[in-house]
Amino acid sequence: MKRFAIAVDGPAGSGKSTVAKAVAKRLGIIYVDTGAMYRGVAYNCIQKGVNCSDEKAVLALLDGIHLEILPTEEGQKIFLENQDITEKIRTQKIGQGASEVAVIQSVRQKLGDMQRAMARKNSVVMDGRDIGTYVLPQAEVKIYMDAGVDERTMRRMGELKAKGEKPEFEAVRKEIIQRDDNDMNRQHNPLRKAPDAVYIDTTRMTIEDVVEKILTIVQEKLGEVRV
Ligand code: DC
Repeated sequence: MKRFAIAVDGPAGSGKSTVAKAVAKRLGIIYVDTGAMYRGVAYNCIQKGVNCSDEKAVLALLDGIHLEILPTEEGQKIFLENQDITEKIRTQKIGQGASEVAVIQSVRQKLGDMQRAMARKNSVVMDGRDIGTYVLPQAEVKIYMDAGVDERTMRRMGELKAKGEKPEFEAVRKEIIQRDDNDMNRQHNPLRKAPDAVYIDTTRMTIEDVVEKILTIVQEKLGEVRV
């Protein structure tokens, strides 16, 4: 069948990536985690001692950056200068840095172009903050996932604990609120629900429930996809 795109947007900790990955697996299509690309840029900056909010310095680095995204059976892998950084970018510090570099318009343009190129070649489930509004406004299915701030804090704490860290509720909650503020109030392509996106509040839903709900929406919109 014709290529199609499913755009999944929402704030940090809304469960987007877990759900989007599962939906892609069920449909046998590619999952693209766009947040990992912003994290890759932030990782490069931090490694080179560049402040993620210093626009001039970030742009100087961006020119020569060699980021590669490789969809695999287990999910997406990301490479910086041929080095696999998939796991290294999953820290609070890199997440915060990603939110800072994401304010810069040229960073958004460059990564947005890479994301569009991937969707031109494959059917994708793409998650991020501006996929339904800016990167793929023509996506056949658009989802906006949300959850209460306490619930998102608990989920993020669970991830950090699983990695052997000892997070504190108030500190993690504060970081999530700050990231929401950064992502929703920046000038270029802020996090917004696209007018034609389906809003899903996942606060009291299991991952499986959200996946099933999205698959039902996909089936309604694109009848011929077998799931
Ligand atoms: O989804 P994440 O936590 O990995 O994203 C990290 C940051 O990257 C997020 O706080 C804002 C930015 N981002 C963005 O601005 N646009 C996207 N499409 C994806 C992520």
